[in-house]
Amino acid sequence: MNKERIFSGMQPSGRFHLGNYMGALGNWVKLQHDYECIFSIVDLHALTSSYADTSQLQENIREMAIDWLSAGLDPEKNIIFVQSHVKEHAELAMLLGMITPLSWLERVPTYKDKIQNLSTQGKDLRTYGFLGYPVLMAADIILYKATRVPVGEDQSAHLELTREMVRRFNYIYNKEVFPEPQAVYSNAKVLPGIDGRKMSKSYDNTIPFGASPEEVEARIKMMITDPQRIKKIDKGNPDICIVYQFQKVFNTSEVEDIERKCRAGEIGCMQCKKILAEKMNVLLADIHLRREELSRKPNYIREVLEHGEKRARVIAEKNMAEIKAAMNVF
Ligand code: TYM
Repeated sequence: MNKERIFSGMQPSGRFHLGNYMGALGNWVKLQHDYECIFSIVDLHALTSSYADTSQLQENIREMAIDWLSAGLDPEKNIIFVQSHVKEHAELAMLLGMITPLSWLERVPTYKDKIQNLSTQGKDLRTYGFLGYPVLMAADIILYKATRVPVGEDQSAHLELTREMVRRFNYIYNKEVFPEPQAVYSNAKVLPGIDGRKMSKSYDNTIPFGASPEEVEARIKMMITDPQRIKKIDKGNPDICIVYQFQKVFNTSEVEDIERKCRAGEIGCMQCKKILAEKMNVLLADIHLRREELSRKPNYIREVLEHGEKRARVIAEKNMAEIKAAMNVF
């Protein structure tokens, strides 16, 4: 029986955080058993915003591969590779660029926001490459004719654009070359950061994936709870509490009990934070152990990525031939 194909990717742009894990990677680990999965470390995407300083790029790629494997992705079951190693990604992005109306790219909601956000960090994103970010992402997915894309909700506009591009390509060249891919969300499709906004490296509100138990505890202590609650016996409102959002994701077995006690004024915020930190540290402890082990095996990591690259290329070359034939490009 043919399994449906999944494609997803992540930018190797620095410290991997729990938003990436709960929104995407954790879901990949679950999905790997039921789908044919292709996961890519999208280094070309990282270049669209970090083109001026690439000194950490190779290190970040290696670290990301270690993060993925330590979280439980099986390199035999899944194809795991570096985007730029399979040239067809760049080639298809170029070809898709020919049929992509500029207005589609300019209206992507994150486009103008991100230009503004990152300009405060000294990054000038008024580039051709950054405008074309969603085209490259569409190329990643449809190069493999993937039908499912497990991502966080912040990627939904990019996926919508991918579907529009699929429809446009199939229509213009009068052939059903690509299927329309659908997003697959986890139960934490937007994990908040410690300040309540989306957890994101650019807001400096993350809990890093590699955080030590003390660091996890310290970051949780900084989370804002119900501001009306002064004393433990005050009745709390979990709906406006960031710690509660985290309990829902990281502590599913106790969250109902905690919610009830909070509303009744039977559990204090300090205690609630302590329970959360313990839960999160148990989850991370195993991962950190595997991480340490894998960090000592650079050759193994290299082999995993080379093996993935070979397997990805077989599919990419075959599909690329079909795509170019549809466009009469030989
Ligand atoms: P990136 O590298 O920014 O993020 C990687 C994944 O983590 C998810 N994520 C979150 N999920 C929930 N809560 C959060 N706070 C949070 N922060 C990040 C993201 O949604 C994403 O799934 N454009 C993509 C990379 C990409 C890609 C692709 C993805 C390139 N090509 C093809 C899928 C398919 C990105 O920038 O993700």
